[in-house]
Amino acid sequence: MVNSYLFYALALLLLLNSNTIVLCLATTFNINTTNTDQISLFAFKKTITSDPYAILANNWSENVSVCHWIGVTCGTKHQRVMYLNISRFDLSGTVSPHLGNLTFLRYLDISFNNFTGNIPSELSHLYRLRRINMGFNSFTGEIPSWFGALPQLEQMILMNNTFSGTLPSDICNNLPNLKTLYVSGNQLEGQIPPNICKCRNIERLALSTNHFTGKIPSEIGSLSMLKELYLGYNDLKGIYDLTYTI
Ligand SMILES: *[C@@H]1O[C@H](CO)[C@@H](O)[C@H](O)[C@H]1NC(C)=O
Ligand SMILES: *[C@@H]1O[C@H](CO)[C@@H](O)[C@H](O)[C@H]1NC(C)=O
Ligand SMILES: *[C@@H]1O[C@H](CO)[C@@H](O)[C@H](O)[C@H]1NC(C)=O
Ligand SMILES: *[C@@H]1O[C@H](CO)[C@@H](O)[C@H](O)[C@H]1NC(C)=O
Ligand SMILES: *[C@@H]1O[C@H](CO)[C@@H](O)[C@H](O)[C@H]1NC(C)=O
Ligand SMILES: *[C@@H]1O[C@H](CO)[C@@H](O)[C@H](O)[C@H]1NC(C)=O
Ligand SMILES: *[C@@H]1O[C@H](CO)[C@@H](O)[C@H](O)[C@H]1NC(C)=O
Repeated sequence: MVNSYLFYALALLLLLNSNTIVLCLATTFNINTTNTDQISLFAFKKTITSDPYAILANNWSENVSVCHWIGVTCGTKHQRVMYLNISRFDLSGTVSPHLGNLTFLRYLDISFNNFTGNIPSELSHLYRLRRINMGFNSFTGEIPSWFGALPQLEQMILMNNTFSGTLPSDICNNLPNLKTLYVSGNQLEGQIPPNICKCRNIERLALSTNHFTGKIPSEIGSLSMLKELYLGYNDLKGIYDLTYTI
């Protein structure tokens, strides 16, 4: 029996496109995709060490679909988690790598909590992400360069944390849709990467209150959509020879 199921599944694999394959395999082997999101969010709940108002403790319960949990919004068709907004819940803890399994996620807002530790590399699987707001937490470590490989990203807010190291020089290589990049209020150092001009549709760029050194790259002057630029409170030197068009 099992062998014949496998045979049909493999036959389908050869014949159909990938979306259909996932659906067929899910049906054949009775994989409940809603549970994937529940497993991910329960794993995340476990890495939250303090929930002073018991918001998640009382609400994220296994006898209710994740789509009815506080802070969670699902897509109407596929009932997968599309939005996760737990901003200002006063939570502490770390971000579980399991969050990287919420592959339908478009908006992630965990701002104004007290999350610590590094951003797990598993979040690089969230290729549908459009907005990520991790601002006003206590994250440490480097800003991962894989952010630059999330093709739909429009807004990246990482301000007021304890990120260190440099701003990855290739961060803008594949982010044609990025409009907002806020990394102010961290401990970033080194040069402002000239490649930032590859984020050619950027409208708001905040790099202030860090330890950036060197010159302001003249390439910033070519960002024709730029409306807001914050560079203050750094260790920048040299002649400001930009022709700002803002
Ligand atoms: C899938 O899992 C969810 C959440 O545990 C449950 O509500 C739903 O009934 C399950 N669906 C099927 C088809 O088993
Ligand atoms: C749901 O589960 C919680 C424990 O997780 C329990 O206290 C509550 O009574 C359950 N509610 C229903 C409607 O079954
Ligand atoms: C969880 O929160 C949602 C959204 O605020 C609410 O509609 C729902 O009734 C809550 N569920 C429980 C079990 O408290
Ligand atoms: C998340 O919720 C807060 C209110 O608690 C709101 O201000 C913010 O805009 C929401 N974030 C997103 C990405 O919708
Ligand atoms: C989800 O992610 C974790 C950690 O990245 C992994 O161990 C697990 O197997 C993944 N899959 C599911 C279905 O939870
Ligand atoms: C955040 O959590 C860290 C580690 O648990 C703690 O040292 C720090 O005081 C917390 N900060 C705030 C603002 O609660
Ligand atoms: C954000 O960081 C700036 C600079 O370090 C600081 O002046 C400001 O008070 C911080 N804001 C909050 C809400 O923590």
